[in-house]
Amino acid sequence: MRQKHDRLRTLLLSAATVSAALAAPALTWAQVAPAPQSATPAVVPPRPSSSVVHPAIWPKVSWPIKRDAKIEARIADLLRRMTIEEKVGQVIQADIASVTPEDVKRYHLGSVLNGGSSGPGNDDLAPAQKWLELADAFYAASTDRSAGGVGVPVIWGTDAVHGHSNIVGATLFPHNVGLGAANDPDMIERIGAATAAEIRVTGQEWTFAPTITVPQDARWGRTYEGYSSDPALVASYAGRMILGLQGAPGNRILAGPHVLASTKHFIADGGTFEGRDQGDARISEETLRDVHGAPYVPAIGAGVGTVMTSFSSWNGTKIAGHHGLVTDVLKGRMDFGGFVVTDWNAHGQVAGCTNASCPQAINAGIDMYMAPDSWRALYGSLLAQAKDGTVPAARLNDAVARILRVKLQIGLFEAGKPSSRPLSGQWQLLGSAEHRALARDAVAKSLVLLKNTGVLPLKRGANILVAGDAADDIARQSGGWTLSWQGTGLTNANFPGATSIWSGIRQAAAQSGGSAELSPGGTFAKKPDAAIVVFGETPYAEFQGDIKALQLRPELRAPLATMRRLKAQGIPVVAVMLTGRPLFVGPELNTADAFVVGWLPGSEGAGIADRLFARADGSAPGFTGRLSMAWPATARPGGPTLFPLRYGLSGTEAPMPWKPVGEDAGVADDDTGGIYFADGVPAAGWSLSVGNGESDTTRITTVPAQALAGRVRVTAIDARVQEGGRAFDLRGGGPQVVSLSPAASLDLSREANGDVMVVATMRFDSAPASDARIVARCGATCGGAAIPRDVAQGKWLTVGVPLRCYGAAGAIAQVATPFAISTRGAMKVAVARVALGTAADRVLKCD
Ligand code: BGC
Ligand code: BGC
Repeated sequence: MRQKHDRLRTLLLSAATVSAALAAPALTWAQVAPAPQSATPAVVPPRPSSSVVHPAIWPKVSWPIKRDAKIEARIADLLRRMTIEEKVGQVIQADIASVTPEDVKRYHLGSVLNGGSSGPGNDDLAPAQKWLELADAFYAASTDRSAGGVGVPVIWGTDAVHGHSNIVGATLFPHNVGLGAANDPDMIERIGAATAAEIRVTGQEWTFAPTITVPQDARWGRTYEGYSSDPALVASYAGRMILGLQGAPGNRILAGPHVLASTKHFIADGGTFEGRDQGDARISEETLRDVHGAPYVPAIGAGVGTVMTSFSSWNGTKIAGHHGLVTDVLKGRMDFGGFVVTDWNAHGQVAGCTNASCPQAINAGIDMYMAPDSWRALYGSLLAQAKDGTVPAARLNDAVARILRVKLQIGLFEAGKPSSRPLSGQWQLLGSAEHRALARDAVAKSLVLLKNTGVLPLKRGANILVAGDAADDIARQSGGWTLSWQGTGLTNANFPGATSIWSGIRQAAAQSGGSAELSPGGTFAKKPDAAIVVFGETPYAEFQGDIKALQLRPELRAPLATMRRLKAQGIPVVAVMLTGRPLFVGPELNTADAFVVGWLPGSEGAGIADRLFARADGSAPGFTGRLSMAWPATARPGGPTLFPLRYGLSGTEAPMPWKPVGEDAGVADDDTGGIYFADGVPAAGWSLSVGNGESDTTRITTVPAQALAGRVRVTAIDARVQEGGRAFDLRGGGPQVVSLSPAASLDLSREANGDVMVVATMRFDSAPASDARIVARCGATCGGAAIPRDVAQGKWLTVGVPLRCYGAAGAIAQVATPFAISTRGAMKVAVARVALGTAADRVLKCD
């Protein structure tokens, strides 16, 4: 076994070394794939608009886990004894927020997961012990045969995507975009092993990782989940991460310290048009194969147990329903021998499907439905479809057999209850010193130095000012998929054992015989020798992180003023940027004396200080990180590159004079394509606020939130997508204005010259108790429209306010707020989207 493992490691390693050694970033297919067989028929490349695949042009891979006669006999025996109800249950996965152990027993469900917002007892922050207890409860229910059935043990999947990231106290590794910059496949395998060990402490068997997406457009809110935009780099990590998580192919995972892995999201989740999450990859089959398919070759070669399909489409066809890609390419040509799971209700997006019914997905080749809250209805429909032949018995049996095969291979049937397995309950492993040291090293290796005119390394004994709103915020440095789904609603108290960037700097400064002072706004008592300003993005996940232009929201650019102020006082500035993706930062680059990209480092913020301070002998520790994605010169999508892929200074070269870079973002802050608010989030550069129309205004960034001394409460509600709307509980008692505003006023004269309206997707959950209007603010003279008392309640509808309601030519050329809801009385109203448009369910009359 050991030998086999080593051989595989050498194989994967050599592929990685070969590709890394090549100066050209682009991967030639031969590097990751065995040469196609000579018998390959000549295939005419498809038109990019087609979603028909040609499996013969895809690489042939060989699944490393050989069939075991004993296991096959057990599968056959189980299949013979399982009822059709048990088989249907086996292919369904439910979320722990919507399923009980009793349900698992009754419906013989094959799997459970905890989504990003779910935790034991509906507590996202439940202590580790509760997770293990719940794992035991699900296991016991699944193997309880008192109500009949063969008692196949359940398997629990979790998003341990940067460490065991749902668990308080676990080690949080840098998000993948930072790990890509480290360019260290050996380290990746160690991170996989450490993550697996921490997962096993709390009893789960399966992680929905690694994400081996190859993001091509940083507007995508999941860019940071990918290691790199370079398929070769991602391919050099994929197999190693799987080895780290799962151990050698075919080993009995649960007998040792490992977990089952899942590569996601198959395929081209990072190739969608305009970087839109869950969007459509409009690319040729060759690009699909060479860019997005590349990491699947080493992943399958390393024996990844499961593959998660993407929410997205390829040339218009949703992957969860794509027979050609799932069955013919992945399972056929590429020989994937594990099972395929869908993403969160993604089957409901397949043409002709709903969350409650989708025979198309299993018929296309998926083996397990992730049906978090829809599992009960799906179970009912699938059972009927299995009985009437809509889902052929052979297909259902194959899906069940694949799931059973993986469960048998990992030793689930012999493992006993989760708390009895290796590492279970060894709480000291969560955030252990060893794992934290690995994470800290990963942080240091991921840092990319873009500029240094000589301030780095910081001199020993120096007095350092630490400024910027991100310096002492562990949630901020950890990003999305951290304890909560979007990584929001957390404070440093939620991260026992973790180190903020500020505390790392304080320790390093003290150790070097100097001192450090924290002052987010950059004020100081004693003039410092140098300042470190930590700034950047705030946490987001999935679609909530999609942006229109490659820049920080205006309120996140405030630290630039701090940098300028410090510089004006003659203080050298080191900028440290926290970000999930490369963004336009021309002014910050010109202003700071040194600029370090910190990515999303996770719980071990001290890794940053490790590279900033001079060593005991005065030498520079240096920087080895190199950009995992090219850095843009402007915020304009598709615009010019400032620093290419793999760029980065070493920090040991002689100080270089800085040639100023452009400071023009190339897009206006209000350049949103006419979409002002989407899926509950303001467009880049826009803000949502609640106020009284005068001085008392609260900007709403995270939810739940309150404004006007509790008179208005704001929460997230589901709309087109989960948490895709904001609900406003207006309690009356005076003026209340909910407004959506750009950073600079808009000239809408061109749009007003026609039938264009502001169209808002809204839901009224109560009739307005007093007059309520939708208004705009454009100087003094802007009008609006009344919300009628008889507006439909309790359902989403689009409401249109013709731009002409807002006033005459002069006013419409200077719109400060194109959309505001204004009323004095009580009203419950929700908003999901605000955009310019021409059609609406209800068009309001100008007043
Ligand atoms: C879940 C996430 C999931 C998302 C999908 C959230 O409520 O917690 O895990 O990815 O919904 O929309
Ligand atoms: C995400 C997946 C995740 C799943 C479960 C989905 O919304 O796209 O990456 O594994 O939720 O939380």
